[in-house]
Amino acid sequence: KNTECSVNERLLQICQLLETHIDYYNWVGFYFRNGDKQELLLGPYVGAPTDHTVIPFGKGICGQVAVSNQNFVVPDVSTQHNYIACSITVKAEIVIPIFVNRKNIGQIDIDSNTIDPFTVDDERFLEFVCRKVAKLFV
Ligand code: SME
Repeated sequence: KNTECSVNERLLQICQLLETHIDYYNWVGFYFRNGDKQELLLGPYVGAPTDHTVIPFGKGICGQVAVSNQNFVVPDVSTQHNYIACSITVKAEIVIPIFVNRKNIGQIDIDSNTIDPFTVDDERFLEFVCRKVAKLFV
């Protein structure tokens, strides 16, 4: 019996778990670097469909994290000039990079319909999730 689960299936399960169990996580998805191109591609996600399936490095919150290699917590997206709006209901966003062999291969991106919901506990928790996700790629 094949109980193996593909990487994309596992990533989708992680999105579903997070979106279901944390009430202020309203859109949960992964973006990954497209080969050696300076762009991110949308991976598995849960929440409203988005047109932003390709994000150039530097563009939006996600594109900035692709360049900075650092967590980006946005308590209020209306204060951000370099921001890509996916849905008008979104008030806040958190993006945490995923490292494999110290290389930034992608990120988890979470939108919230609540203003200023994310704490350092969310950062620590999502860093933990990203370390687990990284192990799917080694
Ligand atoms: N808001 C993101 C774009 C991705 S959507 O949130 C799904 C950004 O500014 O990079």
